[in-house]
Amino acid sequence: MQAVPAADGTTGGAAPPVLSVHGLGVEFASARGAVRAVDGLSMQVARGEVFAIVGESGSGKSSVALAVTGLLPPSARVEGEVRLLGRDVMRMPAAERRRMAGEQAGLVCQDALSSLNPCTTVGFQIAETLMVHRGMAKRAAMQDAVRLLKLTGVPAPEERVHDYPHQFSGGMRQRALIAIALALDPALLIADEPTTALDATIKAQILDLLLRLRRDLGMSIVIITHDMGVVAKLADRMLVMYAGRAIEVGRVEEIFARPAHPYTRALLDAVPRLGRGAKDLQPIPGAPPSMQALPPGCAFHPRCPLALPRCQAEAPALVPTGAARQAACHLAIAGAAA
Ligand SMILES: Nc1ncnc2c1ncn2[C@@H]1O[C@H](COP(=O)(O)OP(=O)(O)O)[C@@H](O)[C@H]1O
Ligand code: SF4
Ligand SMILES: [Mg+2]
Repeated sequence: MQAVPAADGTTGGAAPPVLSVHGLGVEFASARGAVRAVDGLSMQVARGEVFAIVGESGSGKSSVALAVTGLLPPSARVEGEVRLLGRDVMRMPAAERRRMAGEQAGLVCQDALSSLNPCTTVGFQIAETLMVHRGMAKRAAMQDAVRLLKLTGVPAPEERVHDYPHQFSGGMRQRALIAIALALDPALLIADEPTTALDATIKAQILDLLLRLRRDLGMSIVIITHDMGVVAKLADRMLVMYAGRAIEVGRVEEIFARPAHPYTRALLDAVPRLGRGAKDLQPIPGAPPSMQALPPGCAFHPRCPLALPRCQAEAPALVPTGAARQAACHLAIAGAAA
């Protein structure tokens, strides 16, 4: 049975959340000044939970994934706390951190489809992870690669394990990448835009695969996407990011039914719905802000149809707006208090 998360995302009782992030900050140096890609972000993912991180391109979603897995470039500055299965990975020595993150948090990167090595068989690329982390012999690791390809729904895995990436279709490559991420039997799978480059049929198949992994393995999944259809199909809870910050957090069905933040409302209005023609779609007006020069106050105020004078000066904090819900908007906070 699926665990029901409490307000703080934990399942209560003794077991710690699979992932717990507090006050995460990620800053990149750039020629045009520092970019604060993630600013004070907190989230918890319970065992067996599918948690979505959504937001427009550039809002900091991939930076969260890379910070959690310890894969940010060395030039990035990271602060805050990241706990995997209750263990504080940020305070571990670098080698131990890589090992812990590698074993407990499998990442399918955003540009993963092009990241398979064209010169090595798909099977060996899965086996390599097992040989490096588990010290397995090549033969045993290749047998496990067959098992993992089968688990991720690759047909005839005993034969396909010897194929090179160019012999795999886009959907099959995505399955192989998920197999690599699952090789060490992690508690958490982080899939960064895993369906963006795929057509509708293949996308539906990959979403079904992720749901099956949750159901059969009890796996926790963080899905990063800008596609609200993916969120609706897959996720239990969601976190909406804007300009590096969490601006709304809560259960998916509650947020879809009654978004508290004007940006979330705009994202949902931009989604095609059954019975609603394409001409009814409401594109979000304006462009995402430059991360080098964020507007003062609420970063969404230049695009917000409901902005008040105080929104230009005062950044709203992320605060509870209901049971197990949070939002960062002066209006939502006032509404929740009323
Ligand atoms: N390696 C990097 N060096 C400098 N800036 C980066 C780097 N990676 C990401 N950024 C910047 O950080 C911000 C957030 O990027 P990212 O986390 O990739 O967002 P998303 O995944 O939501 O599109 C963007 O402004 C992006 O340009
Ligand atoms: S704080 Fe103000 S500008 Fe920001 S989303 Fe809320 S109403 Fe709009
Ligand atoms: Mg990204």
